[in-house]
Amino acid sequence: MRSRITRLTTLILGSGLAVALCGSALADQPYRQYAPKPEGGYSSNPHVSQDHTKTYPHWKDRAALDPERVASEALQWTTNWKFMDPPFDDSLHGGHLALDRGAELFAELNGSDNRFARCLGASDGNLKGLRANHYPHFNTELGKVVNLEMMIEHCAAQQGATLAHGSYDNSALSVYVASHSNGMPIRIDVTQGELKAAFERGQERFHLRTGRMNMACGTCHVTLVGERLRGQALTTHYGDVAHWPTYRTKDELQSLHVRFTECNRNGGTQPLKPGAQPYVDIEVFLTALSNDYPVAVPSARD
Ligand code: HEC
Repeated sequence: MRSRITRLTTLILGSGLAVALCGSALADQPYRQYAPKPEGGYSSNPHVSQDHTKTYPHWKDRAALDPERVASEALQWTTNWKFMDPPFDDSLHGGHLALDRGAELFAELNGSDNRFARCLGASDGNLKGLRANHYPHFNTELGKVVNLEMMIEHCAAQQGATLAHGSYDNSALSVYVASHSNGMPIRIDVTQGELKAAFERGQERFHLRTGRMNMACGTCHVTLVGERLRGQALTTHYGDVAHWPTYRTKDELQSLHVRFTECNRNGGTQPLKPGAQPYVDIEVFLTALSNDYPVAVPSARD
């Protein structure tokens, strides 16, 4: 009996310890290895212009995107692929069809009482700005940080519809909602509260080495920026979430979290499910690094 109590006490103490470790203390564990952060680290008030790769001047002013740089195979990565975003890419591609599908689904789910828009956080039914400065956010009702695709799934489920995060229809609806923020700068505040905590966890995750090849997101997107991998030159992680979900010409419409699963797979790490907390945290981190960069959908990527 006594030993059972002791075991139980150990278990309780042990789980207490695990909870305590979940904060920044985790970062100090000896078995955890990190890819180096950019010189000077990240600001507590991150902004797209802090891009350490010095490529930002080449893509910040969309009207002045240099066509010669875009045409140059060796240099086009320095434009962060922004020449593939509207209004530069005005060809009809799968992203436009997704936008149409999103509009159709939205009309169905929204009804005449704006119930879907209200559920997404647009109290007056107007979707403008939702993508640019409302997501990701801490949702008090759900008790966690959520992104737009998670809320689309949640709000559809409330009406008995299945729109799984990562599915074509979920992403199509997300493109449609995002299109109402086109041209608006992304602005999320990660200087306080739950979003600050998510930003910090996301930053840690982004630089944490994992998997068969012991690689972090940062190994590719910070250390190796500009190097070629599988025929693609790696770009900076600044300004990189403004065009999602995107139409992948080799594949199909892709949500940001599905891109993370692809990157995890390329880096030899077991991918997580779209909506998993580490992915949400990384999204918060990356969204803050896009602060002040305009939303641009429907976009296309190779
Ligand atoms: C093995 C190298 C590698 C690793 C590790 C890696 N990525 Fe990638 N990632 C790529 C390549 C290659 C591309 C396509 C070229 C580009 O846009 O940089 C890409 C593209 C992306 C894009 C899309 C950029 C765009 O313009 O559309 C995002 C976002 C991204 N990665 C996030 C991540 C995250 C988050 C992680 C960690 C979970 C990660 N990556 C890990 C290689 C990697």
